[in-house]
Amino acid sequence: MTAVGIDAMEIWTGKLKLDLAETFAPAQGDDPGKYTKGLGLRASSFPDVYEDIVTMGANAAHRLMERKGLTPDDIGRIDVATESAFDNSKPVSTYIAGCLEQVYDENFHHANKGERKFACISGTQSLDDAYNWIRAGRNRGRAALVIATDTALYARDDPGEATQGAGAVAMLVDEDPNLVELSTEQGYGSADETDFLKPNQQFPSVDGKRSVNVYLARMREALEDFAEVAGDIHPGDYEMIPFHTPFPGMVRKAAALGYRHIIRGTDVGDLMAEEIGHQPMRSDFETDDEFHAAIKEYTDALTETERYQDWYSNAIEPTLEISREVGNWYTGSVHIARASGLKHARENGLDLDDARLLVASYGSGAQAEVHAETVVPGWEEEIGALDIDEQIRNRYDLSFAEYEQVHDVHNHETETDVEEFTAPENEFAFDGWGRMGERK
Ligand code: CAA
Repeated sequence: MTAVGIDAMEIWTGKLKLDLAETFAPAQGDDPGKYTKGLGLRASSFPDVYEDIVTMGANAAHRLMERKGLTPDDIGRIDVATESAFDNSKPVSTYIAGCLEQVYDENFHHANKGERKFACISGTQSLDDAYNWIRAGRNRGRAALVIATDTALYARDDPGEATQGAGAVAMLVDEDPNLVELSTEQGYGSADETDFLKPNQQFPSVDGKRSVNVYLARMREALEDFAEVAGDIHPGDYEMIPFHTPFPGMVRKAAALGYRHIIRGTDVGDLMAEEIGHQPMRSDFETDDEFHAAIKEYTDALTETERYQDWYSNAIEPTLEISREVGNWYTGSVHIARASGLKHARENGLDLDDARLLVASYGSGAQAEVHAETVVPGWEEEIGALDIDEQIRNRYDLSFAEYEQVHDVHNHETETDVEEFTAPENEFAFDGWGRMGERK
């Protein structure tokens, strides 16, 4: 079977930075440790006044097409995943195609365009759609352009405010990929949940504490479902596990749950049983509360072990490096985690040819999906082409008063007249609703 997967990717961060320890924490009267240690974030990326989901998505896609020497005729579909859409009828992909058509002689009239919605997991669902389209043989030799783009902003003083972020990830899905091959092994956990909603409103209504538990519950189900197709998993089977990362502290919890799950029935599980005791079983307890307290006690002991900490520092920690600097990008977040892990491996001379990744995506509402990928030769060159470090360094560092202004600008209900903080350079820029995505 011909390999199908991600051939190349590009990342575009919002041009502004909100430093959580230096700027946000003092203004909130909070200890910076809550953000840097508790949530695990140093800063958020924020969109300048001329940036939105269209401009960021178009800029990431354009850079990808230029680097890979592609024209519209090479692309048979454009899928956009977002939970920040502003149009309930026309998909964001048409706006992005419109931007790209300004710079190419060809158009995208032949390309299928759509918009995927299921909170943060829709970036991965769009990848799956592209994969299935190619596997079904409907692509006529063309590749798919998958774009995950979001302005993940919360209302002022919402507990989620510290986890904000903005940026886009563009991925080219094709046969014989140069980055990762997607596998058919996939597992789901899904339930109707109402902890995170955006019913025709600019900022989400969130029950933050509950959302953490819903994430963990759906992820556990997805891991169990994955084991149905892939068989028992051993911790050594996967070099890295990129998780959806709303903030690294969430992944700290998800990783402990994942590890507890994957060591069951393995030699590692036996060694852990000798070291800290057997995993609690529901049948040993009278109530759910007692069982959950025992699980927490077991997991706390587990994460204190050297074996767990070694695994975490190799399989999880590298996937969090970009996220710590940019915050939550919703649909792009798990794809940044994958890029972050591969970037770390390249910079540290690790050989990942043919290594397996377990990619753990999540979307509120709620659904988790776990799937396997194989890193393919060529990955180092593709990852080496990313300039995300430079983009992160070049962001304009907002004062708190400037942050308040630019937050108001992105809250479309508020009339504001704020000058841009950076200047667009050879990129698509938002210039009012009538002239969206003009290249400047
Ligand atoms: N030093 C070190 N750590 C500190 C600290 C300090 N001074 N002060 C607090 N902490 C720790 C806390 O102990 C806590 O850690 P644990 O969870 O490990 O106990 C952590 O910092 C956060 O502190 P709080 O729980 O008090 O923070 P909060 O209640 O103000 O906000 C939140 C946390 C509710 C998750 C909030 O960030 C939020 O609402 N976020 C948005 C929703 C979200 O991201 N949910 C995640 C799952 S849903 C999802 O993944 C989809 C998505 O993308 C949104």
